[in-house]
Amino acid sequence: MAGRRLPPSPVTKIMELDPRFAQSLVDIVAAELNKNVNITDNHGVIIASFSKERVSHIHEAAARMLISGPIREFSVTAEQEMQLKGVRQGFNVPIMTGAGCVGVIGVSGAPDTAAPYARLAAKFVEAALESNARQEKLVRALKEKEELQSILLNKMISVQEEERKKISRELHDETSQALTSIIVGLRVLSEHVHSESEREKILAMRDLAVKTLEDVHHLAVQLRPALLDDLGLVAAAQKYVENYSRQYSITVDLNVVNLSRQRFLPEIEITLYRILQEALTNIAKHAKATQVRVLLKKQRDKLVLTIKDNGIGFDDDILNGVGSDTCLGIHGMHERIALLSGEFYIDSAPGKGTVITVEIPLDRRKKTESGLGQAH
Ligand SMILES: Nc1ncnc2c1ncn2[C@@H]1O[C@H](COP(=O)(O)OP(=O)(O)OP(=O)(O)O)[C@@H](O)[C@H]1O
Ligand SMILES: [Mg+2]
Repeated sequence: MAGRRLPPSPVTKIMELDPRFAQSLVDIVAAELNKNVNITDNHGVIIASFSKERVSHIHEAAARMLISGPIREFSVTAEQEMQLKGVRQGFNVPIMTGAGCVGVIGVSGAPDTAAPYARLAAKFVEAALESNARQEKLVRALKEKEELQSILLNKMISVQEEERKKISRELHDETSQALTSIIVGLRVLSEHVHSESEREKILAMRDLAVKTLEDVHHLAVQLRPALLDDLGLVAAAQKYVENYSRQYSITVDLNVVNLSRQRFLPEIEITLYRILQEALTNIAKHAKATQVRVLLKKQRDKLVLTIKDNGIGFDDDILNGVGSDTCLGIHGMHERIALLSGEFYIDSAPGKGTVITVEIPLDRRKKTESGLGQAH
């Protein structure tokens, strides 16, 4: 997040009169008051008018007042209508907002009669502008908050991934090496003892060390398979599926389409890998499935991952509890995908199995600044 600044609040921009907005206000006010109404911008150019042909003409009286000041109400007499360009007999009131005068609203007719209407119209326009500005400010604040949340989440995930990578490497490089030395040492020792019972004890210890080594290896792969970083998603997915099938006796048919050993951005690879891992873990934990079909496909400018099981499925109600302390898996998949501007769908019903579909766009120009997977 360092060095990343949100753009400043565009206060003046919000308060500027948008011609289309002004025209819709003119139409409303003209219909309500049954009068000819026009609005100029803050230079005196007519931007909206009941008489459309006047739009983009200069309202000479308004322009003069706006340029030379002071900003005030003024009337236009029948005589001035003949002398000045773009003006009509009537009464004109400046439109004031927190950012100053943004234009002038004029109501045609005898100035005395038009004055209360013009003041009322100005009040209406000011209120509409203010409410617009307030709404835009709220929307902006909300967007900034969402952006910040997603940056923090991104950071959290990338720090977590880095930590897993570090622990996985340490388990592999340090713990596994040490265990291997112990195993070799115990084997050598077993050959040098004379008592059969002692040899058996040593070999039992060795077997325990072998089992521990396997567990450590499994844990290291679960944490972060080196294969994912070295050879990429397809290779890591194939290996994961192979081990999974063996461990849970569930047939997994992995189909890779339109892809070879092609590499993608690390954040895309790790996200899809984690989703595959969570979806398959859920199947082992909850689905009672015997068969799973996994499809990993490159489709034009996106990667699509589908995981389909023939298990017991689940009710929509369960998804209401998703994100609670006990159901973090599906929530986590969802959040990871949202960070990559992807789509996430779950289709499940009791007795009908479950299908999870994930789509990730490969063009990450929009989101790369948040830098998932780059917290080194
Ligand atoms: N493939 C599936 N088949 C049947 N039920 C499933 C499947 N996947 C998820 N569920 C149901 O959806 C619930 C929510 O899944 P989720 O992964 O969010 O949480 P969890 O697996 O229970 O816990 P966690 O993932 O946090 O350890 C599960 O408890 C289970 O009832
Ligand atoms: Mg789960």
